[in-house]
Formats: sequence, structure tokens, C-alpha cells
Amino acid sequence: MADQAFVTLATHDGYARGAMVLGKSLRNHHTSRKLVALIGPQVSDTCQSVLKRIFDEVKVVDVLDSGDATHLDMMKRPDLGVTFTKLHCWTLTQFSKCVFMDADTLVLSNVDELFEREELSAAPDPGWPDCFNSGVFVFRPSLETHGKLLQHCTEHGSFDGGDQGVLNGFFSDWATADISKHLPFIYNLSSIAIYTYLPAFKQFGGNAKVVHFLGKTKPWSYTFDPKSKRITGEAHEAASQPTFLLDWWTLYSSAVVPMLQEQHGDQPFQSGCVEFQYCDTVPIESEEIPEASCSSPAQVETPLSSEQRKQKWEQGQADYMGTDSFDNIKSKLDTFLK
Ligand code: UDP
Ligand code: GLC
Ligand code: MN
Repeated sequence: MADQAFVTLATHDGYARGAMVLGKSLRNHHTSRKLVALIGPQVSDTCQSVLKRIFDEVKVVDVLDSGDATHLDMMKRPDLGVTFTKLHCWTLTQFSKCVFMDADTLVLSNVDELFEREELSAAPDPGWPDCFNSGVFVFRPSLETHGKLLQHCTEHGSFDGGDQGVLNGFFSDWATADISKHLPFIYNLSSIAIYTYLPAFKQFGGNAKVVHFLGKTKPWSYTFDPKSKRITGEAHEAASQPTFLLDWWTLYSSAVVPMLQEQHGDQPFQSGCVEFQYCDTVPIESEEIPEASCSSPAQVETPLSSEQRKQKWEQGQADYMGTDSFDNIKSKLDTFLK
């Protein structure tokens, strides 16, 4: 067991939050395997410290970028070139077998049985089921395979500009060779299944073991009010399945935010949990896609120090929608007056 691990990747703080929630969810479901996070040098000290509390190993790796704008444009995800960094996971040769999980996945029950599978096991991609989705896969670390994968990148590139294109090119017989390498969809239930096949989702979604918040809008792109348990986001962003999204936010706000706050010290800290929302955001409570619109998208921003905030204020760049909103200022004044 000590030579098997779950592995994830985060090149910056947004995905690092996802990784923290994923790690916590694996721990809560009592995995007996090690937890490893590969991170980029850009991940802040605060996030690195919290990751170290959740994961057995946190390894800083070089960020690899495909730089393939043409293919990434087709997916409307220019940010995914850096998913080439995922290929580093084959260098973890201290382990005999691993399960890679995207930082935007959440474990809903123990999934240690995945280690009974062989390389390369994965679930079908919901967009093209003869390809596997590379958000969850079983692999065997090997420097030889790592070298061959890099060579494959050089010679053939990636048909989607990201790791999934390379991996499907390399493990090209996945669709036909061995059905035991097809993971059931419940090990990588992507939220888009709700829109593409709702009856199946209603029939089988309750058995989901891993939910994958695939797509541009991630759980941490929304904001959350822990008191009312309401999630708010930009209206045109089709919400991922709201109950799963709520699971993510419940775990993040209860178990991860306190650790982030502790590591962050006294500086202002933006967790994504809001008390005051000074814009017309739409609560996401049902399976319907909300209609109204929000003028300011919910964003994860690098927290500013109070000195930086003061400077911005003096330069006339107050954050009227966020920290410097009327409600926040009024509540601060109220506190002083009391
Ligand atoms: N990732 C990362 N930084 C980035 C983009 C992606 O660390 O800027 C990692 C992260 O683990 C993420 C995975 O690569 O979960 C794949 O990207 P994403 O989940 O956004 O792709 P999707 O599943 O939405 O296609
Ligand atoms: C996908 C996968 C993701 C991968 C990306 C780029 O949709 O969900 O894990 O990184 O494509 O290839
Ligand atoms: Mn993903």
C-alpha cells in the first residue's frame, strides 16, 4: 500500500484549492494510499503549507506548456497548454502504481479499488467516448514510459493541445484492446452529463464515486455564503450539478478555509466565501440554469495586503464590488462605533 499513491496537479492557487478539497475528500473516505501533489513554483507559500498538511508529499515540478494555441482554441481553453505538466507523474518511480486525479475532481466514497486496475485505465470522455478522459486514470510510474511520452509530444504533438490528446495518442488501443481498462463512468462523472443525458444521470448519478467539474467554470470560480449555503456565480455559466457543487463548497469552507486562514496570518484573505455580495449574482439552488445576470463575475483573486489596498484606494481604484463595497465599509464603521 505504501508504494501506491493518488496523485494530483496544481500549477497555481486556484487549482491548489481544488487539490486541497480533493485531498481532504480522499482522507475523509479513509484511503489507505499515499497522497501526492505536484505543484508549479507559482503556488503561494500559504497554499503550499496547507497542501503539505493534507498530502504526504508535495513536489514542485517544472511547468510544461504545449504552447499549442491552435488546438487549444478549438476547446476554447487556452489555459490548458500547461496540462502537459501532468506527464511528470510518470517520474514518481518511488511508487509502483498510482491513480492520477485532476484537481477539479471530488471523491464521494472510497475508491481504493481503482488500484486493482492496470495502466492505462480510465473512463470514457463524455464528448468522444472512444477517447478516455484524462481527469482520472490508473498508471505505472516509469522513466522509460515518461521518456516515450515526451518523445510522442515532440513527434506528434497533441490533438487537443493538452495532456488528454497526447495520452490518447500514446495509449491508442484503449478503446478496443481490453475492456477491463475502461473505468465505469461513476469514477469520473463529469458534470456535463447532466446536460447531455439527463435521464441516465437521474438513473445512475446517485452511484457516483468521483465527480469531475470539467469545463471552464470551476467550483472555486463561484462564491459561497456558508450561513445560507448559497452558491452564487455568473448567470451564463451553466452551473455544474448543484448538489455536487454544494458538496465541494461545504468541504472547502468547513475544512480547507480554516487551514488557509491559519496559514495566512492577519492579512486580508479572500477565501471565496462571502458575507456581502454587492452585485446582482444569481443563487444556484436548483437544476435550472439561472436567467438573471451578474455584472461582476465571481473570481478568485490574489489577496492584497492592506497596504496594497490602501494604495489602490488612493489611486481611485477601490474594489467597489468586493472588499470596498458599501456594505463592507458600513459594517466596518458599525464595528468601530460599537
Ligand atoms: N491544471 C493546472 N493548472 C492549469 C490548468 C490545469 O494545474 O492552469 C491541472 C489541474 O490538475 C486540472 C488539470 O490540469 O484539474 C486539467 O485541467 P482542467 O481540469 O481545467 O481541464 P478540464 O477537466 O476542465 O478539461
Ligand atoms: C480534458 C480533461 C483534462 C485534460 C484536458 C486537456 O477535458 O478533462 O483532464 O487536462 O482535457 O487535454
Ligand atoms: Mn478536470
